[in-house]
Amino acid sequence: FGLQRRVDYYLGEYLFQKSKTKERFPDISFSRSSSSSILATDEGLFEQPKLPASSKAAMEKILWQRSLQLRDQQHAWQDSPEGRKMLEFRKSLPAYKEKDAILTAISQNQVVIISGETGCGKTTQIPQFILESEIESVQGAGCSIICTQPRRISAMSVSERVASERGRNWVGYKVRLEGIKGRDTHLLFCTTGILLRRLLVDRNLKGITHVIVDEIHERGMNEDFLLIVIKDLLPRRPELRLILMSATLDAELFSSYFGGARILRIPEALRAADFKEYGSQTRESLSCWNPDCIGFNLIEYLLCNICENERPGAVLVFMTGWDDISSLKDKLLSHPILGDPSQVLLLACHGSMASSEQRLIFDEPKDGVRKIVLATNITETSITINDVVFVLDCGKAKETSYDALNNTPCLLPSWISKVSAQQRRGRAGRVQPGECYHLYPRCVYEAFAEYQLPEILRTPLQSLCLQIKSLKLRSISEFLSRALQSPELLAVQNAIEYLKIIGALDENENLTVLGRYLTMLPMEPKLGKMLVLGAIFNCLDPILTVVAGLSVRDPFLTPMDKKDLAEAAKSQFSRDYSDHLALVRAYEGWKDAERDFAGYDYCWKNFLSVQSMKAIDSLRKEFFTLLKDAGLVDSNTTICNAWSHEEHLIRSVICYGLYPGLSSVVHNEKSFSLKTMEDGQVLLYSNSVNARESKIPYPWLVFNEKIKVNAVFLRDSTAVSDSVLLLFGGSMSKGDIDGHLKMLGGYLEFFMKPAIAEMYQTLRRELD
Ligand code: CDP
Ligand code: MG
Repeated sequence: FGLQRRVDYYLGEYLFQKSKTKERFPDISFSRSSSSSILATDEGLFEQPKLPASSKAAMEKILWQRSLQLRDQQHAWQDSPEGRKMLEFRKSLPAYKEKDAILTAISQNQVVIISGETGCGKTTQIPQFILESEIESVQGAGCSIICTQPRRISAMSVSERVASERGRNWVGYKVRLEGIKGRDTHLLFCTTGILLRRLLVDRNLKGITHVIVDEIHERGMNEDFLLIVIKDLLPRRPELRLILMSATLDAELFSSYFGGARILRIPEALRAADFKEYGSQTRESLSCWNPDCIGFNLIEYLLCNICENERPGAVLVFMTGWDDISSLKDKLLSHPILGDPSQVLLLACHGSMASSEQRLIFDEPKDGVRKIVLATNITETSITINDVVFVLDCGKAKETSYDALNNTPCLLPSWISKVSAQQRRGRAGRVQPGECYHLYPRCVYEAFAEYQLPEILRTPLQSLCLQIKSLKLRSISEFLSRALQSPELLAVQNAIEYLKIIGALDENENLTVLGRYLTMLPMEPKLGKMLVLGAIFNCLDPILTVVAGLSVRDPFLTPMDKKDLAEAAKSQFSRDYSDHLALVRAYEGWKDAERDFAGYDYCWKNFLSVQSMKAIDSLRKEFFTLLKDAGLVDSNTTICNAWSHEEHLIRSVICYGLYPGLSSVVHNEKSFSLKTMEDGQVLLYSNSVNARESKIPYPWLVFNEKIKVNAVFLRDSTAVSDSVLLLFGGSMSKGDIDGHLKMLGGYLEFFMKPAIAEMYQTLRRELD
């Protein structure tokens, strides 16, 4: 109990002191010059230098002169041979023909909704139209346009494209911890998350003249959230313009949300991909078509056919998820044509790959080599792989859903929506005519839902609620009730309850000190919590690996045909009933091997993914920078710090982060079973090191994630002892020890652990 108190005190005091010394919280007001080009960053604000003359007239004169310069620059580019060529191309896009109508609508309305077919030039052209017209009317210096993209890869590739269309002038991008922007950036492409973080320090988006939210039909959580915040902001900033864009959208829904906003539709492009359909409506062919299993053989056959008989051009294959991609890739690599690097360049693209690797898909292959990209739905929107001529669409995507009643996330492959199918088809024939093979029959397509369910209705809301609190936006439920489509009340309550249990919110739903730190770490709160404690207890090295490992796809590979070998390889890393510690060991082994240039061999032998290892490596650095920025580690510390080899401590920090993800270990004669309070009996994923054990000499397992598939499965678990749970399970923020013990008491009573329950009773008595 004394120790618990001390830990509690230490954490509370430590964080409190830190938060006082480092003035990094959103309520700090920034002093700014009144000139307006301030650009979005999450590392602070980029400001114009202070003006020498303070009078308004002098300032206006400087802006005017700068605007004239911009106009001259623009004309010079437009008159250059390259610029003329670019303009020629741009004029061929359907969006260009609507330029005047679009600009008029934007000048007359505060909110404009623009829809048009994929490839008609919304993303690349509309921001440029605005920029150009501002520059032309000599207001360029005061203009600052932000265009959000749902994903890092699209923000980067779109900005690259637009920069090349503009002779590299004025265009920049910003994604988490990466970006190119400068003093003369007037058009910034960023992820939606970056804009939300900017709103943290600058509620009124001062200096921003236009906000463009792209791919709005995807209905990502961040985009829905952003719309609520901006809707609030619009009356305070009457000159700010909001433009919503999407390929195919429920324009009326958005329009009525913004009080009948103006809708513009760009007429259909002439150049849509041919639509070749595979599969047919006849019964015979349906009976041999298995909806639960995407036919790898069919894909192989089609790819082979394209390679042998079709005209040149890259192939983009939409797959369900990473596991499918990697098994298909393995299969194709052993094919005489498809696996031959002199004929085929086989690439994969997946959300958790490092961005440098994702960018490979844009490279042109050598002459005579056909590029085949196996991808998930991250390539569905926004990005253009110029040489894609053929699209193969399996019709499925892994979609998360959330069962609020049981407070359990589910991850299941499910059919995509018609909108997604259209987007996928649109990836072919962007710059030349293309073809799309649907690997499902027409009747299945007809049964697809029109739109996908918005993310806000199908994911746990913890991170979102934390963000709402950090923006000081009144009560969480009231705020969310103003969303385009509000989430279930129960889902909101679950999220608030969770944040209270982990100590990010106090009983009045206000951010605690820990909570405020968590808002500075853009990751799931539980992972942020581990980092915070890892920093305080000087054991960051392994904790960074754990957190990075949980943020990328599983680095332990289990190829279908070598499952046993792979599991055996993983189990050599485990000695102590923890998937997380096994990962730490695997990573450290890889690091050692890398030093001898044997990283690939090491991964190959141990069934580890090289890409994941590299991603972990770069994420560790990113997270370390974030901790430095948050003031949690001193700027001169290195990652390797003092207590990194204290295994018990590391286990405790993991427990601190993952609680209340807790299951009790129930031993029976030959083996053990697991129970959680909400679900009763649960199972371990077969690739967990704990799944191979017959006994676990610990009473508890903390786990990272539980997912309902057919039964409830736990992913990534670590065994912990009673005392670790008592000391580290719970919030530990100042003053909350009572609530923490009460919660834990609930668990103990539920699982009837007499010895520890007694210990707990003693603590309670002492506390009372
Ligand atoms: O946003 P939307 O789908 O309407 O189209 P976009 O991304 O603005 O692209 C318009 C056109 O620009 C495409 O059809 C391509 O021809 C071209 N483009 C390109 O060549 N390379 C890129 N990276 C992006 C676009
Ligand atoms: Mg687009």
